[in-house]
Amino acid sequence: MVSRRDYRSMRSCSGWRRFLLLIPLVFVLPHLSSLVDFSSTSTRNESQSIRSKKLDHLVLGPVAGQGLSDRLHCRGTKALNRTHTSTSHVSGAGNGVSFVTVFTVYNNTSVDNVKSANMVSVVGNVTYSKPERSMAVLNAFANFIQVTMPKSNVVILTDPASDFSIGKSNVMVQPVRGDYSRSNLMLQRIRSYITFLEMKLEKNDDGRNHYIFTDSDMAVVDDIGTIFDKHPNFHIALTFRNNKDQPLNSGFIAVRGTREGLIRAKVFLDQVLKAYKTKYMKASRMLGDQLALVWVVKSHPSFDAKRFTKPQAFTQEIAGASVLFLPCALYNWTPPEGAGQFHGMPLDVKIVHFKGSRKRLMLEAWNFYKSTSNIPDMLCLVLGSGRTKYDF
Ligand SMILES: *[C@@H]1O[C@H](CO)[C@@H](O)[C@H](O)[C@H]1NC(C)=O
Ligand SMILES: *[C@@H]1O[C@H](CO)[C@@H](O)[C@H](O)[C@H]1NC(C)=O
Ligand SMILES: *[C@@H]1O[C@H](CO)[C@@H](O)[C@H](O)[C@H]1NC(C)=O
Ligand SMILES: *[C@@H]1O[C@H](CO)[C@@H](O)[C@H](O)[C@H]1NC(C)=O
Ligand SMILES: *[C@@H]1O[C@H](CO)[C@@H](O)[C@H](O)[C@H]1NC(C)=O
Repeated sequence: MVSRRDYRSMRSCSGWRRFLLLIPLVFVLPHLSSLVDFSSTSTRNESQSIRSKKLDHLVLGPVAGQGLSDRLHCRGTKALNRTHTSTSHVSGAGNGVSFVTVFTVYNNTSVDNVKSANMVSVVGNVTYSKPERSMAVLNAFANFIQVTMPKSNVVILTDPASDFSIGKSNVMVQPVRGDYSRSNLMLQRIRSYITFLEMKLEKNDDGRNHYIFTDSDMAVVDDIGTIFDKHPNFHIALTFRNNKDQPLNSGFIAVRGTREGLIRAKVFLDQVLKAYKTKYMKASRMLGDQLALVWVVKSHPSFDAKRFTKPQAFTQEIAGASVLFLPCALYNWTPPEGAGQFHGMPLDVKIVHFKGSRKRLMLEAWNFYKSTSNIPDMLCLVLGSGRTKYDF
């Protein structure tokens, strides 16, 4: 039942090199990235193996990056720096920006699913079955966006057959036909993105709204709509990190909502889809889209991969589109797990990505925010908990 395969530095924006155990997708899309991490060192000593246990409750450890002046400093869960995030909750933030995510619910009743549906987790005072857990992650995703970008909205692209509702005023469910079976999900996700862009092109409300396609296990902790003004010329934006094999993460794709932007982004994603179908169908169902994305970018003759070594935004023409590359360190930051070097959290981080078995931490972070209304303090919670591996 468990397909065991090892991957190095997976769908990850962190710099960790590790081997991962791939578990089958259960119920919903956020679990695409539900990968079980384990340390690659065979010579773990005892304190390390305690650290690598998967925990079902929040654990705070030492905060990394202390002493580096450009990193967030914390005392416990108290932030010592005033990050710009503490003042950014402008009521107009997010105006003209939609977040778009793909999410689907499987309701077939194989023995497998019934068993996992009955597994429960407790976060705070709430008990979740496995599918409820995924809905909770989706809810937390929408909740963070409502806090930091109150004027934006969330569009959930889903299988017309999937049966769920989310009662939030900033969230809209948009069925898109396709094959959402587990083995086809990453391919379908690109297809659904393309269909969505086509729908927007037909609607032709030129440039009034921009789109940010993201995974739903992300917490948007600052107004990222500003990228569209700050970098006025890009059509499509991606996040990169300094990793030779997986320099791009497919969890964040921003598209300028002008007619030109929509067309160029669609043509770009068409090429990613084509590369996926022709080259990576046999690759992991988890990684195909990312490998295809990297292939399209790197196959452009003038592309210089050295630019990925510095965490600085840059723009490059690729496949007919002006592509803005944003550093993962700010736009797709992942709390690291396990052993390894770790230099803390940049002060102006904008998106925290709770990949793999960090989704409990996302729910804990949202609960913490709910009771404190303080984003920097919440970031200290995430940072202090960064070395812990969670049960989901
Ligand atoms: C075990 O690992 C910890 C953390 O890496 C380290 O501080 C400690 O010195 C190690 N102990 C032994 C006996 O190797
Ligand atoms: C963040 O706070 C720490 C501790 O108070 C301080 O040493 C550091 O200089 C601060 N960084 C910035 C950029 O203010
Ligand atoms: C959990 O519920 C108890 C009793 O209803 C309450 O005292 C406590 O504050 C709750 N804890 C959280 C984290 O909500
Ligand atoms: C999923 O289950 C619900 C009831 O639990 C049912 O109404 C719906 O039609 C089912 N969808 C599919 C695709 O089987
Ligand atoms: C569950 O349903 C999906 C389509 O909704 C189908 O692709 C998949 O094969 C089914 N899985 C099982 C285990 O029946």
